[in-house]
Amino acid sequence: MKTHSIFLSAQRPFPEAHTKPNAMTIDTSVIQLHDKQFKKLVTRDQIAHAVRRLAAQITQDYNGNEVVFVVVLKGSFLFAADLLREVTLPCTVEFIRAESYGALMHSSGTVSITHYTGQDLAGKHVVILEDIVDTGLTVRRIVTHLQNMNPMSLAIATLFFKPDVCRGTVEPKYVGFEISPLFIVGYGLDYNELGRNLADVYVLHTS
Ligand code: IMP
Ligand code: MG
Repeated sequence: MKTHSIFLSAQRPFPEAHTKPNAMTIDTSVIQLHDKQFKKLVTRDQIAHAVRRLAAQITQDYNGNEVVFVVVLKGSFLFAADLLREVTLPCTVEFIRAESYGALMHSSGTVSITHYTGQDLAGKHVVILEDIVDTGLTVRRIVTHLQNMNPMSLAIATLFFKPDVCRGTVEPKYVGFEISPLFIVGYGLDYNELGRNLADVYVLHTS
């Protein structure tokens, strides 16, 4: 499967950052959330294109069969809303929440399921919708939880995937973007709960 790669070094210039602002424009290529600055990395158009591609792949692969989409809260709410409107399969939707405790920008290694909206998945085709797979610990915990319900099949779709960090055996089948180990916000992803409503995706500005 072809995925977009956005392997950027911190030094690589961002085109938007060099656009001269004038009195009539607001420069949205650099934003501040809490104590940190972020630069635009992926535009809303690139996201929409990737989401449409994933929706088309899923629609084709499930070939008219009914699918249960399990949306991972909170970060996947925009991804799921956009993807599901492009999927032309009979489907139902459930929500699950996993929490990992620890630092704001790193997985702590301890993940627990705090909410699941309840449908029994026995004999169903299930697709997990994730915003980002970083170490993979969260999605692995979710897979274990859902597999206990004996679904007929279980696949993972994630908008962002950090292959260099992901440790473990759970590989996402549908990937929007592969990224290097950077911290990103926007389109559902947060930095200490801010930034989820941004239409574009931004990367932590390290210098
Ligand atoms: P994991 O390391 O794959 O278990 O990722 C755990 C969770 O950390 C994800 O579901 C996100 O909520 C969060 N996370 C990981 N990487 C990022 C990032 O780059 N930006 C914002 N949140 C992230
Ligand atoms: Mg988070």
